[in-house]
Amino acid sequence: WVLMVTAQTPTNIAVIKYWGKRDEDLILAINDSISVTLDPAHLCTTTTVAVSPAFDQDRMWLNGKEISLSGGRYQNCLREIRARASDVEDENKGIKIAKKDWQNLHVHVASYNNFPTAAGLASSAAGFACLVFSLAKLMNVQEDNGKLSAIARQGSGSACRSLYGGFVKWIMGKEENGGDSIAVQLVDEKHWDELVIIIAVVSSRQKETSSTSGMRDTVETSALIEHRAKVVVPKRIIQMEEAIQNRDFPTFAQLTCADSNQFHAVCMDTSPPIFYMNDTSHRVISCVEKWNRSEGTPQVAYTFDAGPNAVLIARNRKAATLMLQRLLFHFPPNSDTDLNSYVIGDKSI
Ligand code: DP6
Repeated sequence: WVLMVTAQTPTNIAVIKYWGKRDEDLILAINDSISVTLDPAHLCTTTTVAVSPAFDQDRMWLNGKEISLSGGRYQNCLREIRARASDVEDENKGIKIAKKDWQNLHVHVASYNNFPTAAGLASSAAGFACLVFSLAKLMNVQEDNGKLSAIARQGSGSACRSLYGGFVKWIMGKEENGGDSIAVQLVDEKHWDELVIIIAVVSSRQKETSSTSGMRDTVETSALIEHRAKVVVPKRIIQMEEAIQNRDFPTFAQLTCADSNQFHAVCMDTSPPIFYMNDTSHRVISCVEKWNRSEGTPQVAYTFDAGPNAVLIARNRKAATLMLQRLLFHFPPNSDTDLNSYVIGDKSI
């Protein structure tokens, strides 16, 4: 027999960024972060997990290619979920798995991203969140999403925020064992549903510096990171939470853009410097800044993760349509585009 579960998890985009760890193994951050979870129809991971007595080892396929599960991050997630497994019974199939049996059963995992892996579009966030969620369903884990977020966090920090929709805060926590380093939902997806997110894919190439090694170098070498983590971000977190509660777009946009820019500034302040954005990214920033200024009030916020792709958050559909027209004019597409989806502007590559 084979028992299977399939789950789908959207990715999330940080508007106040996580950058830097205080514990590399447990993945504990040096500051709180806030993100928005995307619509599952757009950027998401779909994962099927299966268990069978015929499986002789844990195995995983990502986008159809087998990958190794030997890394500590996968092992930590598998161990934490297995430790919380409960009895499972499927009467139709005549399957009965007792809690203790899970320690000896192996799983097969097949995961697909509907967007470029490791191109700075937070694919590890959706990936680990989906892995942990689907394994938890398969093994009948009786924990709430907060506890599951702390397990997904051990796969990839940003993954803990993908267990919820809407706006989500990852509380860095204080405990040594990371027990209080969990994600909480600030507001659900209906709270601010006028917002429209456009992902402008500048390049789908794999990023040169992974987030993991990039943030390690920043913590070790940047003179600015401590000021960011201890002084700037705590203040911004409070302001951002308030802006989200009040649906105050001008404040939200100002904080989002400033935090993205500061994150890239600390990357530049790292030795050797890390450049995630390219000329096209910089031109997108100028385009948005100019338009926002000419309108007198912000219409669109921009944010860039560990790659050159722009995430643009428009205040409503009208602003998104106008933004898209501007992008199409300045960055002619070389692939199909539609609102909410990809714009390919490949001018400088
Ligand atoms: C720039 O979560 O990918 O997207 O915890 O080492 O797996 P690891 O890093 P990861 O870093 C994400 C960094 C970011 C900002 C953010 O999502 O908050």
